[in-house]
Amino acid sequence: MAALFDPFVLKDITLRNRIAVSPMCQYSAQNGVVNDWHHVHLATLARGGSALVIAEATAVSPEGRITPACAGLWNDSQAEAFAPIVRAIKAAGAVPGIQIGHAGRKASANLPWEGDDHIAVGDPRGWETVSPSPIAFGANLPRVPRALTIAEIARVRQDFVDAARRAASAGFEWLVLHFAHGYLAQSFLSDYSNQRDDEYGGSFAARSRFLIETLAAVREVWPERLPLTMRLGVIEFDGRDEDSLVQSIDLIRRFKAEGLDFIDVSIGFSTPTAQIPWGPAFLAPVAARVRRETGLPTATSWFISDAAQADGLIRDGSLDLVMLGRPLLANPHWPYRAATELGIDRPAWVLPAPYAHWLSRYRTA
Ligand SMILES: Cc1cc2nc3c(=O)[nH]c(=O)nc-3n(C[C@H](O)[C@H](O)[C@H](O)COP(=O)(O)O)c2cc1C
Repeated sequence: MAALFDPFVLKDITLRNRIAVSPMCQYSAQNGVVNDWHHVHLATLARGGSALVIAEATAVSPEGRITPACAGLWNDSQAEAFAPIVRAIKAAGAVPGIQIGHAGRKASANLPWEGDDHIAVGDPRGWETVSPSPIAFGANLPRVPRALTIAEIARVRQDFVDAARRAASAGFEWLVLHFAHGYLAQSFLSDYSNQRDDEYGGSFAARSRFLIETLAAVREVWPERLPLTMRLGVIEFDGRDEDSLVQSIDLIRRFKAEGLDFIDVSIGFSTPTAQIPWGPAFLAPVAARVRRETGLPTATSWFISDAAQADGLIRDGSLDLVMLGRPLLANPHWPYRAATELGIDRPAWVLPAPYAHWLSRYRTA
């Protein structure tokens, strides 16, 4: 069995260890264009020793942004702004990845530190939101979206394709389709948000249609030699969890047949009434089941911050990669610290030579 500091190979990509930076919005872009902050943030994480650095949820269209300050890939200048960041991540020995998505009915929100709620209707900073059906999320996101027409659904699918092509042109080597967290794709899948009576709604198979079609369309343009991956909410914690999980596992098998290379198991966040049992690595058993029953390389995140626990989840075959978010914001060098905690003596695989040479026998407190 592999361990946390063993390499991981997927398609033509080799990760130096099993630690990945989970995508994290920075709410700091202008007109969807990333800037020096994104460069510092992502390059620092790469330099810290993580093997895979995934840039934040990046919108495939202006209305697909969560907030006005979210990154985008709906035009070429946005792709060009990512290119030097991609080069910096690679210079630090990590693989550059990006997540592309559409926020659906959760779009048009204020920044987290400015309320995290919907921008008021009529406020010129906001915009009309879209979703499978005109049903609001509720709680802090009360805006009622407009239902997408069939032609608009095709347009969104094409926006994903165009964004994927731009991601490849910027040099990204790992693509994540954001099909989780109650955003547009997850809204198609969930009956909380999808009450359509056409071919995109009704049965689980029909609610899956947008996701399958979009994956298949992106597969045609994303280079075959590079991993095409997905973040999917497989469970809501709403009391219907076994059914959701069984259906999700069936769907992931279908995705695998369509060319999906890797799955990042997450939560649906489709209803504000979910009772989520937050706790250390609480989603790992769910991910382990997905891995076992689909045979697809699998990761998860959520409260994995202890080195021994992360190593254990790789060693016991629960996960292929651990995805870390906040622990890496707190300490970008978490991988190096984890290596020392685990008693691994020569972490040349954690840091590039100019650091590794000096640190391989050096112990911090
Ligand atoms: C600041 C911040 C921004 C986030 N943005 C995204 C995002 O863009 N896409 C996504 O899939 N998850 C996002 N998340 C969720 C993280 O990727 C991760 O799953 C979550 O923080 C749990 O992992 P952790 O306990 O290691 O932080 C974000 C989390 C944080 C803290």
